[in-house]
Amino acid sequence: MRIVLCTGNPGKVAELRALLPVRIELVTLGELGIPGDLPESGETLEENALQKARYVFERCGLPCLSDDTGLAVEALGGAPGVHSARYAGTARDADANMDRLLRELEGVKDRSAAFRTVLALVGPEGEQLFEGSVHGRIGEKPIGKGGFGYDPIFLPQGSSRTFAEMDAEAKNRISHRALAMEKFLDWIRTEQIGD
Ligand code: IMP
Repeated sequence: MRIVLCTGNPGKVAELRALLPVRIELVTLGELGIPGDLPESGETLEENALQKARYVFERCGLPCLSDDTGLAVEALGGAPGVHSARYAGTARDADANMDRLLRELEGVKDRSAAFRTVLALVGPEGEQLFEGSVHGRIGEKPIGKGGFGYDPIFLPQGSSRTFAEMDAEAKNRISHRALAMEKFLDWIRTEQIGD
């Protein structure tokens, strides 16, 4: 089975690659000559994931897998949520996004938050969605060099380390993305696709 990974984010590509079994051949946007900044103008993670996978499917006809992820902070009423990528502006700068979030949470005691990933598969046989969430809390300052995006300020429940302090395998054992991917792989097994 060949699947196009519909993301230009190198952090996501690395994690999704590590989570997928080797029998699934991955095609990148670069290999298809499709630019990585895919349209995502929806109001939900589901809409954005579908929008990105449909856009690529219309251009290549191969099964397309996209990932839309948001970080929802309880004290901020679920923000930045679907707006996580551009929280501090259109530059999608991870440091600026974390700075803004930490500023908004200054003096706030309840730092509960959750990452949520929606994977969309769009292919000749139709469309499917798979989701995964991980609960945790926002730290006081960025710690760690691993991962990407908001990882240096997110501590998953029960952990004293941020995602950025974990190695790739440790994050991939418990992450929102890994949980969504598990559902995707279960679905593939049930549908007996990709044997
Ligand atoms: P999008 O899914 O590409 O729209 O990304 C949403 C935002 O969340 C971007 O700022 C990403 O860097 C960030 N993000 C996505 N997945 C993760 C993750 O696993 N850890 C930390 N930040 C993430």
